[in-house]
Amino acid sequence: MKDKIESIIEEINHFTINDIQTLEKFRIQYLGTKGILKDLFGDLKSVPNEDKKDVGQLLNGLRTLAEEKFNLQKETLDTPKESTLKMDTSRPGVDSEVGSRHPLMLVRSEIIEIFSRIGYSVSEGPEIEDDWHNFSALNFPPEHPARDMQDTFFIENNGEEMALRTHTSSVQVRVMENQKPPIRTISPGRVFRNEAISARAHCFFHQVEGLYIDKNVSFADLKQTLLYFAQEMFGDKAKIRLRPSYFPFTEPSAEVDVSCTICNAKGCNVCKNTGWLEILGCGMVDPSVLESCGIDSKEYTGFAFGMGIERITQLKYKVNDLRLYSENDVRFLKQFTGGI
Ligand code: PHE
Repeated sequence: MKDKIESIIEEINHFTINDIQTLEKFRIQYLGTKGILKDLFGDLKSVPNEDKKDVGQLLNGLRTLAEEKFNLQKETLDTPKESTLKMDTSRPGVDSEVGSRHPLMLVRSEIIEIFSRIGYSVSEGPEIEDDWHNFSALNFPPEHPARDMQDTFFIENNGEEMALRTHTSSVQVRVMENQKPPIRTISPGRVFRNEAISARAHCFFHQVEGLYIDKNVSFADLKQTLLYFAQEMFGDKAKIRLRPSYFPFTEPSAEVDVSCTICNAKGCNVCKNTGWLEILGCGMVDPSVLESCGIDSKEYTGFAFGMGIERITQLKYKVNDLRLYSENDVRFLKQFTGGI
């Protein structure tokens, strides 16, 4: 029996295991329920009592040897080889999602860039405004409809009635109050109006308003500045036209149309076959507004203009539903990958 055990020890020591299949063969052959060890332990009964202890020890040693060999080989085979851990540079990489800038922010940056090239700074102000900066300083008469709850969101702040600004002209009032002319600035920002949400109207949107105040600023300067803007934004061929209009804070006032960028002014459904698209309001700053802000209207004149970023974005990217801008639909947002 002892000799048998010794020859099996030899056998185990020389058993080469290179793959999972041979490992399994080894397990079945030596450690399995019908394996050699099981038989040998069975044979222990017939060993004379005086030898039982020795043979038993040998058998236990044999079992430990077989088990250890099995475990060691299993571990080696389960651990991936070093070569497979190395990076395979020929495999295609995993795409990581890159965010994109919001179309309104792309257009906002572009507008700022266009005006900064001709010396305009950027000014910002609060979204919650008092009556003076949003209305009174800008010459809004007390009965003006914009002062009505229907058109403006009013909120109470420490017992004082405040408005969510309806335009960023309020920022221009703040600039005029705090700076001496010459002033050349644009004020981009979010504004709020009490409108039912639809494809064409929203309760908040974004504006960029511009202000230029100096000695001898004329309407011709305004027109040239706006032509420059339109051509930078919509291309060299863009034309503008001015239609008389009314704003409480400018006199004279005008609305500005740009030649339709979609049909090249030939007439299409976007420009309703007129060849023109309205893009902004403008005018010469009313002398009483200058005076309200502490600027001598005999010495200085100026112009102002204001445009909606959503509107410019609509014309540039042909987005025809205002709601898309705030729905955060990734399928929509993904299309604007420029300028990351
Ligand atoms: N504040 C005006 C608006 O919100 C736009 C405007 C600005 C018009 C400056 C004239 C001059 O509609």
